[in-house]
Amino acid sequence: MNALNPYIPELATIIETFDETPDVKTFRVVLQDEAKMAAFCFEPGQVAQLSVFGTGESTFVICSPPTRMEYLQFSVMRVGELTHRLHTQKAGDPIGLRAPLGNHFPYKDMQGKDIVFIGGGLGLAPLRTLLLFMLDNRADYGKITLIYGGRTPEHLCFKDELKEWAARGDMRVELTVDTPGEGWQGRTGVVPAVLTELGVRPENAVAVTCGPPIMIRFTLEALGKLGFTDEQIVTTLERRMKCGIGLCGRCNIGEKFVCVDGPVFTQAQLRGLPQEF
Ligand SMILES: Cc1cc2nc3c(=O)[nH]c(=O)nc-3n(C[C@H](O)[C@H](O)[C@H](O)COP(=O)(O)OP(=O)(O)OC[C@H]3O[C@@H](n4cnc5c(N)ncnc54)[C@H](O)[C@@H]3O)c2cc1C
Ligand code: FES
Repeated sequence: MNALNPYIPELATIIETFDETPDVKTFRVVLQDEAKMAAFCFEPGQVAQLSVFGTGESTFVICSPPTRMEYLQFSVMRVGELTHRLHTQKAGDPIGLRAPLGNHFPYKDMQGKDIVFIGGGLGLAPLRTLLLFMLDNRADYGKITLIYGGRTPEHLCFKDELKEWAARGDMRVELTVDTPGEGWQGRTGVVPAVLTELGVRPENAVAVTCGPPIMIRFTLEALGKLGFTDEQIVTTLERRMKCGIGLCGRCNIGEKFVCVDGPVFTQAQLRGLPQEF
């Protein structure tokens, strides 16, 4: 059981960093207290508030799976003050961590079903935790398909793993980019078009999607045309958060707090909320 206080950042150390794309960096992190690290547990899809001392804290999904606990992994896009500071941190530097926060992917309800992951850009980060969790429990799930796109081949995250997953033989990987570079052997075009072209079957299937709003909009349309119901579509929202524990009211959509009721929702749940995102 976790012994972390959700109000107080726990001291953690960055043990490794590497670049995923020109503006996304991955951080591997361990709690400084070894006993707390050994006891730490979370579910796929849960998030953390990471703090850079003197700057502040922000929300990031734990994108490693709970089946691999040597470290917690985060992939961070450089967009503003906190993320710029985080990108300057290196192995050995301390950061603060409040986690685990939020709900998680309903992976037990997905057992025995075919899973279609549909991601764009850094939207693959939350999908990665669930995908790796499912690969580590492969017999519990049916066919696994990943459809993933980025602006250019350089903007695809987790490039080495994309190759490994494509070579596994027990899952299907379809990559697409808007603008192909020299040597690109995948598809060209947008993710929803690939989804439609593949004619993914909705029977006994669940679609899990995360990416830029425009991709999500057209992906939902494409899934609907393929026969997926709102109950068969799961997504994870990125909404501005502050406290992360349901107290400040910063993240609400209607009556739901994304930090405690989410960030993971089915499309059926989202349909019942004000369409302000
Ligand atoms: C549940 C959840 C999970 C997230 N997971 C990740 C992750 O794994 N990796 C990652 O890189 N980012 C993730 N984010 C987004 C991340 O929290 C923000 O990018 C970060 O807070 C920006 O902080 P900043 O100080 O650098 O930027 P700010 O200075 O606060 O903002 C810079 C720019 O980014 C925009 N922005 C900031 N936060 C968000 C947001 N949440 N959604 C949309 N636009 C935003 C601002 O409007 C502004 O234009 C997640 C957010 C949530 C709520
Ligand atoms: S972030 Fe404070 S209530 Fe959700």
